[in-house]
Amino acid sequence: MATLLATPLRENPLRAGLQQQSIPEPNIIVFFGASGDLTKRKLVPALYKLRKERKLPPETTIVGIARRDWSHEYFRDQMREGITEFSDGIGEESLWDEFSKGLFYCSGDIDNPLSYQKLKAFLGELDTLRNTRGNRVFYLSVAPNFFPEAIRQLGASGMLEDSQKTRLVIEKPFGRDLASAQALNRIVNQVCREEQVYRIDHYLGKETVQNLLVFRFANAIFEPLWNRQYIDHVQITVAETVGVEDRAGYYETAGALRDMMQNHLMQVFCLTAMEPPNSLDADAIRTEKVKVLQAAHLADLNNLDNSAIRGQYTAGQIKTKSVPGYHEEKGVNPDSTTPTFVALKLSVDNWRWQGVPFYLRTGKRLPKKTSEIAIQFRDVPHLIFQQVAKQVNPNVLTMRLQPNDGISMKFEVKMPGGDLRSRSVEMDFAYGNAFGKSSGGDAYDRLLLDCMMGDQTLFTRSDEVEAAWRVVTPIVAAWDASTDPATIPKYPAGTWEPKEAEDLINKDGRKWRRL
Ligand code: BG6
Repeated sequence: MATLLATPLRENPLRAGLQQQSIPEPNIIVFFGASGDLTKRKLVPALYKLRKERKLPPETTIVGIARRDWSHEYFRDQMREGITEFSDGIGEESLWDEFSKGLFYCSGDIDNPLSYQKLKAFLGELDTLRNTRGNRVFYLSVAPNFFPEAIRQLGASGMLEDSQKTRLVIEKPFGRDLASAQALNRIVNQVCREEQVYRIDHYLGKETVQNLLVFRFANAIFEPLWNRQYIDHVQITVAETVGVEDRAGYYETAGALRDMMQNHLMQVFCLTAMEPPNSLDADAIRTEKVKVLQAAHLADLNNLDNSAIRGQYTAGQIKTKSVPGYHEEKGVNPDSTTPTFVALKLSVDNWRWQGVPFYLRTGKRLPKKTSEIAIQFRDVPHLIFQQVAKQVNPNVLTMRLQPNDGISMKFEVKMPGGDLRSRSVEMDFAYGNAFGKSSGGDAYDRLLLDCMMGDQTLFTRSDEVEAAWRVVTPIVAAWDASTDPATIPKYPAGTWEPKEAEDLINKDGRKWRRL
């Protein structure tokens, strides 16, 4: 296998958003839903990592808020456990001592105005104690049905009034469909300005996802090929081996379409298909993403089965381990119609992409955890080797988001020997080889830092989130209306997709990649 060594000879200083340089002012970061998994596994460990790397000032303060009656001490212990278990550990005890002094807990009810008044007074006290100067990040890591209430109450309490110093981070899914996303945007607009709003999608914080911009727009040789003239089709895959885990309460209301497709995969799709932005400004990039979403639609709007397939896993095996089917999972309704797999075929109506299908698929309990974008180029227009080969394999450019993050290019070469025979080989760039380490897993540190620095590039704008909903709206409506579990295609855990999803691509004369 030929190796393309990416030697980091000279770094290009990209603008803020893709490269952080200075450190933010001291902030209080308030996590709503602080007794949940995300705060313990990802968010507080991400802030601790930033502090370890001296990317946050020592005054940085964290306040967890949730219904449970925890003490500050208990919250600190929980967060320490999270950092130890889910990140690279505590490191120097003195650093933890300093950091943990800035961790506080405040119990409260999301729908009780008194809880917000209590929080407001507490944050005021902390400003004096910790010198945080009124800077606040309110992070909603609660079940999505609580977003409207929490936002209204935060607004009513006056805590979002200072548009320079206060920011609101909203987890996904942002709404359940187009109408509810629009309604949520209206509530947000009533209480704060768009510049204060950070709709978070952790895929945008992944290095490999950001690298799509650099790969496409910092190299002159790929962009001329990036269109219908040379590209046959694009496949975007985000596959997971895990099942619903202990998140049935949330997942049953979301499913693969709302949990992954409408946000993570749509974002990857946008960065793959968008036009070059004029600059790296947050709005220049986000405007191009909106444009591609506006041009995108399900490939066959008259027959949805030709453009969208859902599936549910049944009992099976993941790496020799037997696992239950979705209906047997704890907390799942045995008649559930929630999809754990979704495949879409999208078309993009513009000059660049007319006639080039984009196939997107995501699912839980698939054979392998892997995410990639594969650009398959067209066949050669005329094959001069017909006497020895009926067909040669088309070129494929693969961008691996995780794991083994990197990029590879498949092309044909002559096999050594007297015969004229060709074979596919790959040129491969791996982050691990080129930079001595992978591009890094979790993205929450980057995103939290960007938010504190006031950089919205890697967050979703209101019109963008609505445009992404518009693309999936026809299937959301159809699938929500079908309540018979027998109509959901099934796939055994540990296999790639239901047969119906194979048919979706096979009937176009193409195949899903086996990864
Ligand atoms: C989350 C989803 O947003 O992304 C989870 O809610 C999913 O269901 C996770 O497992 C996948 O993220 P990653 O970074 O592991 O690919």
